[in-house]
Amino acid sequence: AGSLTAPDVKPGFKAVPVSFADSVTVAEGYSAHVFVRWGDSIGDTLGNAPFYANAGNTAEDQLIQFGMHHDGMSYFPLPWGSSNSSSALIAVNHEYIDRGLLHPAEPRFSHTPAQVQKEINAHGVTVYEVSQAPNRQWSVKRPSKYARRITADTPCRIGGPAKGHELMRTQFDPKGEEILGTLNNCANGMTPWGTYLTCEENFNGYFTNYSDEITPDQKRYGISMKGAGYEWAKAGGIHARFDCGLHPNEPNRFGWVVEIDPFDATATPVKRTALGRIKHENAAVTLATDNRVVVYMGDDERFEYIYKFVSEGKFDRSDRKKNMDLLDKGTLYVAQFKEDGTGKWLPLTTHNPKLAAFKDQAEILIKARSAADVVGATKMDRPEWIAIHPTTKQVYCTLTNNSKREQADAANPRAKNTHGHIIRWEETDPAADSFRWDIFVMAGDPTSTIGSNQGNLQGDIYSAPDGLAFDSRGLLWIQTDMSTSAMYHPQHATKQTEFKNFGNNQLLAVSPADGVAKRFLTGPVGCELTGLAFTPDGKTLFVNIQHPGEPLDDKTEFNDPKQPSRYSTWPDGGRPRSATLVISKDDGGVIGT
Ligand code: FEO
Ligand code: CA
Ligand code: CA
Ligand code: CA
Repeated sequence: AGSLTAPDVKPGFKAVPVSFADSVTVAEGYSAHVFVRWGDSIGDTLGNAPFYANAGNTAEDQLIQFGMHHDGMSYFPLPWGSSNSSSALIAVNHEYIDRGLLHPAEPRFSHTPAQVQKEINAHGVTVYEVSQAPNRQWSVKRPSKYARRITADTPCRIGGPAKGHELMRTQFDPKGEEILGTLNNCANGMTPWGTYLTCEENFNGYFTNYSDEITPDQKRYGISMKGAGYEWAKAGGIHARFDCGLHPNEPNRFGWVVEIDPFDATATPVKRTALGRIKHENAAVTLATDNRVVVYMGDDERFEYIYKFVSEGKFDRSDRKKNMDLLDKGTLYVAQFKEDGTGKWLPLTTHNPKLAAFKDQAEILIKARSAADVVGATKMDRPEWIAIHPTTKQVYCTLTNNSKREQADAANPRAKNTHGHIIRWEETDPAADSFRWDIFVMAGDPTSTIGSNQGNLQGDIYSAPDGLAFDSRGLLWIQTDMSTSAMYHPQHATKQTEFKNFGNNQLLAVSPADGVAKRFLTGPVGCELTGLAFTPDGKTLFVNIQHPGEPLDDKTEFNDPKQPSRYSTWPDGGRPRSATLVISKDDGGVIGT
């Protein structure tokens, strides 16, 4: 543990061992059930949901079914504000798709309009209604007037300084005010007024640029000629917008935090441009002492930054409507971690003399990464989730790994960083412009023969911390995401040495006082654990299993017999499906006690 101190709370369960099995294991005395899977009905109002038919469902079916690859997720009691309600809405992200699972047979990857539309419809967000029976069993309410899919072509408004800006205007949206869709919805956040924040991460992968010129701004966000293989532009029509050689401003319209009102299925999602354009992981929200809204955000790529937004207006608990545009006005900062354990929040505004080359505030926000480069922010080891302690408001951030780091610094002390670490900081007030920081834990395997891979973990071991959340008692929950390509040697389909002792990806609980971890749950083969939401009473925990059986590339048929180590049939014995688990304690008690 570092120089900061934190309140102690101990995980009360008996830890589970590492697992290599194609199944979920959870601590003794708990039950974990598969709740909603990719392809299940969301419960649309007409009640005409199609049955899941492996890869046989159409694009239209997919619009009223859960999307693929569940990620961040939030739980909204129904009605909003009630603390003992037995019904609720859950909003869940569908980060990306695996085309080898989504489409039935060859030609699987020809980018026909029908295929591309199904891919688009499997992305985005689902809002659905749940309820708990007196016997404590949870079910999805079908039909529900709240049930809703938001996809990669649902119309979204642009809010904040970049609305209408010349860099946001395109052939299909000459005013720069409406964007079709949200992309690569990674993790999430929840506002005190009961809206859902969905965060756009690796949007670059959907764009192609077949022109001779990839601009420096496009390059800064990872745009390449072929993207990640989606090549949606090939379907033509409106999808041509994904060729940013022809439509250079279209990528500027992704990489934002998007706010959704889950309580109104007709509400238009809003891209909140005041929070900056990066490859967003999650959005951790709290209030300053004076009720300004503060949002912490990580940019998940090697050598990227940690950001903080402070709103101009103040949260008004008595009038929900008044808060709806609070995220449109405020100041965006980027973090600088100094060697002496202090840090500074550097403002990304037109008042900052270092940013004089930027024309206006909108340009600073659209090119937030380039602005952060100029002001001297600290390049981090892939900032993933950020979590805020419920009482101390200390902030924790997972830095999942960085295989490319050659120069260590105090905040990123390993070169290279194979297993990742968790950094934390403390401010006098969430709106403060400085902080004190330390490193909470260095993940690793104490038995590694490579000294720098040993880390300093106590209790159960893990690598690649990613998902992160505090429960209301102040216990810190960590989800891991060791990448399949790092864990398995592509030729031999065996576990690589440095990862062989960790088993499958997992969920652990840790006391913030001492960093001692206990493994609570292990996932099936090839998955990562990501996304978690507690009910207000702490007695139910929803957790996502993402991409079970992940292939190394989607040109491989799923469950390729040549790749047996990645064979997964979770959860149904057939085609692997991302899913939400519902977890409860058998004695009805609080999770983690
Ligand atoms: Fe979508 Fe950085 O994880
Ligand atoms: Ca993640
Ligand atoms: Ca992943
Ligand atoms: Ca990750």
